[in-house]
Amino acid sequence: MSVKLFKNCHIYTPVDRGSPAGGKAQSQITSIPHGALLVENGLINRVGDENAVLAASQALTIDQVIDCQSRCMVPGFVDPHTHICFAKRRESEFQMRIEGTPYLEILKQGGGILSSVKSVDAATEDELYKNCLKHALTALSFGTTTLEIKSGYGLDTKNELKMLHAIDRVSRTSPQDIVATFLGAHAIPPHYKEKPDEFLDLIINEMLPSVHKQNIASHCDIFCEEGVFTIEQGRRLLQAAKKLGMEVKIHADEVHDLGGAALAAELGAISADHLLAANDENIIKMAQAGVIANLLPATAYSLRKPYARARRMIESNLPVALATDCNPGSSYTESMPFIIGLAILNMNMSPAEALTAATLNSAYSIGMAKKAGSLEKGKQADFLLLDGESPAILGYHAGVSPVIDVYKHGEKVS
Ligand code: NIG
Ligand code: FE
Repeated sequence: MSVKLFKNCHIYTPVDRGSPAGGKAQSQITSIPHGALLVENGLINRVGDENAVLAASQALTIDQVIDCQSRCMVPGFVDPHTHICFAKRRESEFQMRIEGTPYLEILKQGGGILSSVKSVDAATEDELYKNCLKHALTALSFGTTTLEIKSGYGLDTKNELKMLHAIDRVSRTSPQDIVATFLGAHAIPPHYKEKPDEFLDLIINEMLPSVHKQNIASHCDIFCEEGVFTIEQGRRLLQAAKKLGMEVKIHADEVHDLGGAALAAELGAISADHLLAANDENIIKMAQAGVIANLLPATAYSLRKPYARARRMIESNLPVALATDCNPGSSYTESMPFIIGLAILNMNMSPAEALTAATLNSAYSIGMAKKAGSLEKGKQADFLLLDGESPAILGYHAGVSPVIDVYKHGEKVS
């Protein structure tokens, strides 16, 4: 048995009340100015005021005492929406976008997601694994201790499985906990352009059952957007995934208000992601149905679109989570501190709301809240030491990561 005591830290953590924190609860975080954390075999055993933790631990043999030098301690970030399993970056498209070509226009011309599909087809599983691991480790250095990774650049059974096997290998080699999502419905391949329903049949009848049989993805996602998949197609796929026992999520209302948010509510999706164009009525529907809003501000930033309406969502009691959406097209960043900074400064979320969004709510949105998302007894000792007095440093020190040390299961991993 290993017992470690982390002392002399200012702890900030959301409180897990058994469900994601929406409305006022989103801003209610615990602050313990002279805090300590007692870790037993990688799990949190006690957390609280240093004197109280020490007094309660007298009977224990403590193997190691770590002085946190008055730093601020927060839970490790949970990034619940990434596409970091890809083969090549798309820098030339970035150039096109900054010169004015819209993101969906590039896809229409056979670029965008479809260009990543070509490079994934040409890559080996090993190449995908190495590239994906590199991005996961960069995320780790910015404080991400748990993350979700999607497939979606395969678009046929062989390549979707190749991606999911690469992701599975990353989950066994990186220190992070990784949740895999099947996103076979990410774009329509050119040879199915005139018959998208046949492509959906292929996903439902061939890809989804193979993924399920191999048990390599717990969640299923679809990109519902003009020129991609319709709401009706989303309904068909996600109902089939639910029948297999998978959790479902949707790339919803990213560019156009198609009603993805309403579909998420109707199906009881675990999250609806993006929501830049979601309307008020559907925001309320999501809140009533217990769906989490995964907001991806770096996508709005990179596509130069208006940000998702986080304030409206929080006022409507809709729990808000934050993610990078890290991918080679619409948002290329692994940095959760950057995301939190955007949320604070451009979506008017308070530092406390943003911290809850990037830890507890994001953990709920990928089914990981039992293990991660807050510093509480029984959860994994996944935490960060920040160079700052409070989580506000994440917005204040712009473009720089205040994450000094990253701990996973009580071990320093970055
Ligand atoms: O979440 N919108 C669809 N999928 C990703 C982008 C993927 C890409 O451009 O490669 C997103 O923005
Ligand atoms: Fe995405």
